[in-house]
Amino acid sequence: MTLLDLTPDQLLSTTRAVRRRLDFTRPVPDDAVRECVAMALQAPSGSNVVTMRFVVVRDEEKRRAIGEVYRQVYAMYKASPGYAGRLTTGDAERDRIQGRVASSADYLGEHMGEAPVLVLGCTEGADRASASAGIGNILPGMWSFMLAARARGLGTAWTSMHVARERDVAEILGIPYDTVAQAVLSPLAYTKGTDFRPAARPHPDQVIHWDTW
Ligand SMILES: Cc1cc2nc3c(=O)[nH]c(=O)nc-3n(C[C@H](O)[C@H](O)[C@H](O)COP(=O)(O)O)c2cc1C
Repeated sequence: MTLLDLTPDQLLSTTRAVRRRLDFTRPVPDDAVRECVAMALQAPSGSNVVTMRFVVVRDEEKRRAIGEVYRQVYAMYKASPGYAGRLTTGDAERDRIQGRVASSADYLGEHMGEAPVLVLGCTEGADRASASAGIGNILPGMWSFMLAARARGLGTAWTSMHVARERDVAEILGIPYDTVAQAVLSPLAYTKGTDFRPAARPHPDQVIHWDTW
């Protein structure tokens, strides 16, 4: 696949959670997914044992079913005090950005199942406890997957709230619930345009503790 002309720092600083700018009409080739998974597999794994697994959902009916689960869980989140659109800081600019994020997340809440591909980042263990303990093995890999996708003009959005209904999603996809833990659910689609900007984030000195807390 052709890669966008991005420096490493541009790639790292412009890989956004893409929701409204996902192109639901354009198919994603299987080989693009394979390339992203190949990059993900270069991420670290505890004891050098690769337990990360990717369930790549192209089937329309299964996507719709997962989208419906996500829609229901999202509706509960939206009604909760932790909903992004309800978090006010008193800083008008910060609140404006939160409002925009909330509206974008609302959109994905309604449209998750319409993405041409859904990707579930999972980790496999000998049993449920070891699979859950190995969740750290999928997180770096999943982020690498998303960076690789961005480099190929594809958009993703990290979500995890579906785990409240993990068993239902396992049933839809035939994932063995007792030995596989699901960590992340992301849409995967070409983006409408490829120009994404760095987000407003705290200054590094606000989050660094030099030598002592
Ligand atoms: C642990 C975690 C959970 C998230 N859950 C959701 C989610 O359920 N729905 C969603 O639309 N975005 C979700 N996001 C994406 C964040 O909303 C997003 O990263 C944040 O708004 C910043 O936007 P940006 O990544 O484009 O800079 C999640 C991100 C993380 C890291």
